[in-house]
Amino acid sequence: MSDSVTLKWGDKTFELPLIEGTEGEKAIDISKLRQTTGLVTMDPGFANTGSCQSAITFMDGEKGILRYRGYPIEQLAEHSTFREVAYLLIHGKLPTAKEITRFSVLLNDHSLVHEDMRTFFESFPRQSHPMGILSSMVNALKSFYPYLEGAEEEIESTVTRLISKVRTLAAMSYKISRGHLVVYPRPDLSYCENFLNMMFDSPVRPYEIDPDIVQALSVFLILHADHEQNCSTSAVRVVGSGRVNLYAAISAGIAALWGPLHGGANQKVIEMLTDIANGRMTVKEAVHRAKDKEDPFRLMGFGHRVYKTYDPRTRIMKKMYDKLLNKLRIKDPLLNIAAELEEIALKDPYFIDYHLYPNVDFYSGMVLRTIGIPTSMFTVMFAIGRLPGWIAQWKESMDDPNWRISRPRQVYTGSALRDYVPMEDRGGEHKTIPLRQSA
Ligand code: CMC
Repeated sequence: MSDSVTLKWGDKTFELPLIEGTEGEKAIDISKLRQTTGLVTMDPGFANTGSCQSAITFMDGEKGILRYRGYPIEQLAEHSTFREVAYLLIHGKLPTAKEITRFSVLLNDHSLVHEDMRTFFESFPRQSHPMGILSSMVNALKSFYPYLEGAEEEIESTVTRLISKVRTLAAMSYKISRGHLVVYPRPDLSYCENFLNMMFDSPVRPYEIDPDIVQALSVFLILHADHEQNCSTSAVRVVGSGRVNLYAAISAGIAALWGPLHGGANQKVIEMLTDIANGRMTVKEAVHRAKDKEDPFRLMGFGHRVYKTYDPRTRIMKKMYDKLLNKLRIKDPLLNIAAELEEIALKDPYFIDYHLYPNVDFYSGMVLRTIGIPTSMFTVMFAIGRLPGWIAQWKESMDDPNWRISRPRQVYTGSALRDYVPMEDRGGEHKTIPLRQSA
């Protein structure tokens, strides 16, 4: 097969090279398109645009495949830990025993946050969303921990500092929002154990660490750890392309993740299911509304830009959720509603024709609820999970010899050239405004 594509425009033809990935996916290289043809491409939402070559995550949306650094998500969820997956994504290989020990020591060493940062928490209005707080706090880390640009060991400590401190900041924000004492990280606990302990331990009710809950949290974080060039990861890469510091790039990623069409969907799913449980809407009405093009309502936790089949993460999440409910002997009133919604939607021609399947967010909120995480913190949990992916993608972009500042083109559709019109010639009523206006 030809390794180029021919573009025909008028009586001219142009050869555009093809790029092929390791799994056989092909892309037309248009990097010289404007230079040679004067044309740009138009692709709203970048649905057909590859922004980079990446060796981190492979997805096949048609077959429902997800792999980190070549390893299937199913194997990582079953055998690995979040800490190990974070190492794998960032360093490109599974760690040796010595490497994971060193990584754990660094995570422990960096787990405290500067005490002065606590005053920031107290300055946010009580009802502030934790994602807004987290994004601000991560950006503020740069002021507390300035690092030497480019020095390898500094990058390593910035990376571990971020992974460790984001977890501490998230738990701290929860405790402060409830008016409770902040619980500090402990060196004898693992990454996930520490988070749960910082969230739920209290002087009057010591938190008992349950290995099944720790495992559920670890799997939740593993399933969210990377998902190639999604909205928030692209935000991290675009913002990072201006060579801004890592904290600022991650802060932008957190802001992007907050959106209800992206990471914020996990919170919206539970709100939707709760509305059904409280009788504000029936399952049938939800499905009906989702199909009505006049209604902006969408079935939250359904659909995906890449997956046109069942999201592999959803299957793992659901299995783990069932296991957790069995273990804890809990009956979740939302479970039957979710199951009914899924069953009806999967048989409905609208959802079949549009290839809309439950995505990771459909069951992730149910898992988080079961382990005691409040709904407002759901998207923060997604952010903790996605952090290693963002860092790995940022690192890859920094090392990419072909990297340039992200700067898309546009097709201008505004007014043609026109002359400035003085105020008195613009028509309308002339009023004298008594107050002094600034220029
Ligand atoms: N309910 C009803 N209709 C839907 C849904 C849905 N959940 N998702 C897509 N559609 C329809 C949409 O109305 C559109 O119809 P039409 O072409 O007639 O206008 C068509 O499907 C294509 O939708 P789109 O918005 O162009 O698709 P997209 O690939 O740009 O968007 C999505 C993907 C995830 C934003 C979208 O499916 C959605 O809004 N889902 C609900 C929110 C959600 O669950 N988000 C979490 C995504 S997974 C976690 C993550 O990675 O962030």
